Amino acid sequence: MKVTPSVTRATVPADALVSIRQLNACRILVINSKGGAGKTTVATNLAAWLAARGEQTTLIDSDPQASAQQWVKSRNSTLPNVYGVHLDSTAKTTRSFQWRAPRSTRWLITDSRPGLSGADLNDMVADHDLLVIPVLASDIDIRASARFIGELLLTPIMRHSRRPVVVVANRVKRQTKAWERLQKFLISLNIPFPATLRDTQNYVTAFVEGKGIGDFPAHKTHRRDQEDWKMLLEWLEGESVAVKSSVK
Ligand SMILES: Nc1ncnc2c1ncn2[C@@H]1O[C@H](COP(=O)(O)OP(=O)(O)OP(=O)(O)O)[C@@H](O)[C@H]1O
Ligand SMILES: [Mg+2]
Repeated sequence: MKVTPSVTRATVPADALVSIRQLNACRILVINSKGGAGKTTVATNLAAWLAARGEQTTLIDSDPQASAQQWVKSRNSTLPNVYGVHLDSTAKTTRSFQWRAPRSTRWLITDSRPGLSGADLNDMVADHDLLVIPVLASDIDIRASARFIGELLLTPIMRHSRRPVVVVANRVKRQTKAWERLQKFLISLNIPFPATLRDTQNYVTAFVEGKGIGDFPAHKTHRRDQEDWKMLLEWLEGESVAVKSSVK
């Protein structure tokens, strides 16, 4: 099936679109088969943080719900540019090697759809360098995410060539049993969780405005949430150096 990316951003880089396999970029897949875990929230925030570094950032919306596409459309042109690609496909499966992004892309972030498994999951992982898994701190989500992480680690591509994985603990209410259980679960899997995001309307309003939490002035309202991303951004920076120095 031919997947035609439609550009959702008016600001188009001057360079050509190439297969994401040909990019000299760090390709980050934000994924969890569980719906509503925070994939789009994490993907859009990461895109905003990375674009703010002044490096070409591309956000691929691979979900037919097109929430990330909507975020790119709402993003004001005065903010650091995020180049949006929406996969214009009605079919359930899309082959990620067919996806295209500007050649100058340095950071590629893919917002995945819920429910990915089997060969589709394997293909997606194969075309990315780092995996970021948002998990909600609730018992239902921990159980569903445990199943998903189990499947992910057993995919042929992960067994053959394991990609670094981190979890973003999302909508965390500290001092709760669910948060304790999520931490125990992640420690037992030996998966780092460098970001813990609290449950706050700040993320909801940022999304509506086409912003990431890092696009706001570091006033009282957002400073605390901005701090929550620091370790994850440092982790990405460190891993991206390893990705860029390895032969693609
Ligand atoms: N930390 C947070 N605090 C408050 N609300 C949040 C937070 N993270 C996400 N949300 C809200 O939860 C809902 C689901 O989040 P999001 O759309 O990012 O999840 P998703 O994994 O992309 O969902 P889907 O599987 O449907 O694509 C959204 O309304 C979002 O605004
Ligand atoms: Mg989503």
